Amino acid sequence: MKTRIKEIYKTMEYGPAPEDASEAIQFLKKYNNKFNLFINGKWVTPSSGEYYDSINPSTKEKLAQISEANEADVDKAVAAAKKALPKWVSIGAHQRARYLYALARQIQKHSRLFSVLESLDNGKPIRETRDIDIPIVVRHFYHHAGWAQLRDTELKDYKELGVIGQIIPWNFPLMMLSWKIAPAIAMGNTIVLKPAEATSLTALLFAEICQQIGLPNGVVNIITGHGSTGAAIVNHKDVSKIAFTGSTEVGKIIRRATAGTGKKLSLELGGKSPFIVFEDADLDSVVEGIVDAIWFNQGQVCCAGSRLLVQESIAEKLYKKIRARMENLRIGNALDKSIDIGAIVDDTQLKTIKEMVQLGVDEGSTLNQPSWACPTEGYYYPPTLFTDVSPSATIAQEEIFGPVLVAMSFRTHKEAVKLANNTRYGLACSIWTENINLALDIAPQIKAGVAWINCTNVFDAAAGFGGYRESGFGREGGKEGLMEYLKPRINNEFTDEPLPISINNLDTPNENGLPSLGIDRTTKMYIGGKQARPDGGYSTVINSVKGVYIGEVSKGNRKDIRNAVEAAHANNKWLDMTGHSRAQVLYYLAENLMIRREEFASRIVQMTNQNKSDALQEVDLSIERIYTYAALADKYDGHVHHTIHRNVTLAMPENLGVMGIICPDESPLLGFISTVIPAITMGNSVIVIPSEKLPFSATDFYQVLETSDVPAGTVNIVTGGKDELAQVLAKHDNVDAIWYFGNKEGCREIEFLSADNMKRTWVNYGKYRNWLDKAQGEGQEFLKHASQIKNIWIPYGA
Ligand code: NAI
Ligand code: MG
Repeated sequence: MKTRIKEIYKTMEYGPAPEDASEAIQFLKKYNNKFNLFINGKWVTPSSGEYYDSINPSTKEKLAQISEANEADVDKAVAAAKKALPKWVSIGAHQRARYLYALARQIQKHSRLFSVLESLDNGKPIRETRDIDIPIVVRHFYHHAGWAQLRDTELKDYKELGVIGQIIPWNFPLMMLSWKIAPAIAMGNTIVLKPAEATSLTALLFAEICQQIGLPNGVVNIITGHGSTGAAIVNHKDVSKIAFTGSTEVGKIIRRATAGTGKKLSLELGGKSPFIVFEDADLDSVVEGIVDAIWFNQGQVCCAGSRLLVQESIAEKLYKKIRARMENLRIGNALDKSIDIGAIVDDTQLKTIKEMVQLGVDEGSTLNQPSWACPTEGYYYPPTLFTDVSPSATIAQEEIFGPVLVAMSFRTHKEAVKLANNTRYGLACSIWTENINLALDIAPQIKAGVAWINCTNVFDAAAGFGGYRESGFGREGGKEGLMEYLKPRINNEFTDEPLPISINNLDTPNENGLPSLGIDRTTKMYIGGKQARPDGGYSTVINSVKGVYIGEVSKGNRKDIRNAVEAAHANNKWLDMTGHSRAQVLYYLAENLMIRREEFASRIVQMTNQNKSDALQEVDLSIERIYTYAALADKYDGHVHHTIHRNVTLAMPENLGVMGIICPDESPLLGFISTVIPAITMGNSVIVIPSEKLPFSATDFYQVLETSDVPAGTVNIVTGGKDELAQVLAKHDNVDAIWYFGNKEGCREIEFLSADNMKRTWVNYGKYRNWLDKAQGEGQEFLKHASQIKNIWIPYGA
């Protein structure tokens, strides 16, 4: 005994401290370890009659049988959600708030059961489910109970969407469920949710909670199954929105499947997030940060800090500390309270990790792993560090989704930013330095939706979470997250046909008392601040709506678009300007347009044969619209969120980058102004394709741009075949976003082609706005679609 105690003091080894699983086992037994589908508030057997096994990855033991839902089941669930919708809307904000509050309370009361069940089913340590996952779930329902209550006052210009399809992954099963369900039902929608095939149990326990609190039948439907079940939800005609978290690969499939349907979409996809360490960082904190970044949840985290970028001067020192820390991490059964790392979710994922690691070794990187061996009874993988990694190595570019950290070094700040952004993803980044000025200089330069300064993997319901680039679009949490489950009420006023215009009998504008425009030359395009001839050397004849010859425009092609994209990227000046300076330029634009008011009206009359007064009104409204965005340029700002952590969390709207804008055919000047000006107001550079039929207001406008101090490359105008050019833009890898105003087929094409690099798209689905109406034609809605929100977390506390 004496020697044993001595031994324990020497090694300081923990003994096993298993959590009692009996209540969770009891829950499974109550259902005979066999679960049906939760549809319309009841348990329904699957039409297929098929079930599959859910496994405990810590032991490979079978936990339960789960139903495989097919199309017929999905149909039933969607029908139940659709039927429940009117009543769920009509009971009002306060009643919905009470239900959300009740859900929060009830989950909190059963929090240990949820934690144990989650650890059993997923393999994640009980310490994490108990202290992180489930508290975040509870917090999410409480927070959104508040939003449900405030729905009609804070968000009165918005309306619910209807039936929402939600598809979630296995890495944070109940947490992802709460991020999906809470905002959706708080805003008055009803839902059909599919958990991941490997981890459905806590979602099924949640279904029971919905029954217990008396949530009206059909508001929440939980159906289980594999990818084909998910696809059936995606393709169901009565679903108004799909919210998906999972792989980028499936995200792209869903983007293409929903293209042109008008289904709203939010995608939270993969990542390869940089964890950047500058030489003045507190290295012991950094090491603990790394544990949280890549060994939390076995590294199966979409925003895991999986790429370690270290300043060269401290790289070896840090690697040494990381190796020592790895040696001390404890791995084992998820229910053991004293382990740090649990089991990988299943054998498929374990195999993927092993293959990726082998690839890393084969490609010449150096593998570092602890000396101890993993337990053999479950799916375990040791903490792993790769050094000597080249930035182009597969393991440096592809998501591994396991406990594998890939390290690279940099010398200068500039190089750090370049390395950090050398990825197709953009979910999160973590920045470590004791110099706050440096941290706040770097954070906006990283293309990622979340920036954690001297911290990592911090989440809260009050702050938005979501990605840039191929990490997907849309946000979860925060007010921006609610927007994913709402649509502007004004959308109901859009029409199926454009507004009719009044046409006069005169043939020329000057008969109307407007200045003569003279004989027309062929207008050029406008690229990089210069008038440019078309690469192809072709021009197109443009006639007025009455068929009278007006002139010719350049016929742009693929090469012209490429030049325009390059010019847009070369322009940093516009982005670097403050809101105030951009406002000054916009006012100047308006002023210069005002000087040429009659000439622009003449042009509108010439193209459209409208009345003089209508044309003048269009010019005047265009001037006014520019004023609106000049006014907003320094006012459309962000928030400091009230999270539960000791952090200042800044939600900052950032530009999207380079945008393609395909202008509407209606209101040739105002349609151009209403789309181009808000896009540049947010700091984007744009490639504009003006109306194909009525292009001259846009080409005349470059003379206004030239005289108004707009930096070269900010606005590039390429004329020609609308859909042909639009598709080149949609396929272009260096275009970040596209707005398209045109017919339904064109909208489908744009959304479909944009999936390749996950462009942000905003299309009109063949519906028409009245651009003359301020409520439809301008405002913050436009700025919202021209920007994305980055949340920057800055911890405090001395
Ligand atoms: P997955 O993307 O296939 O699965 C996510 C969810 O989508 C599951 O519920 C699945 O049943 C469903 N699904 C699959 N195919 C679908 C389809 N065609 N239509 C609709 N729903 C569909 O991810 P999986 O196979 O579990 O993991 C593969 C890789 O994806 C991982 O190794 C990891 O790299 C990444 N991943 C990323 C996640 C993230 O949070 N960003 C989460 C899970 C996986
Ligand atoms: Mg899969």
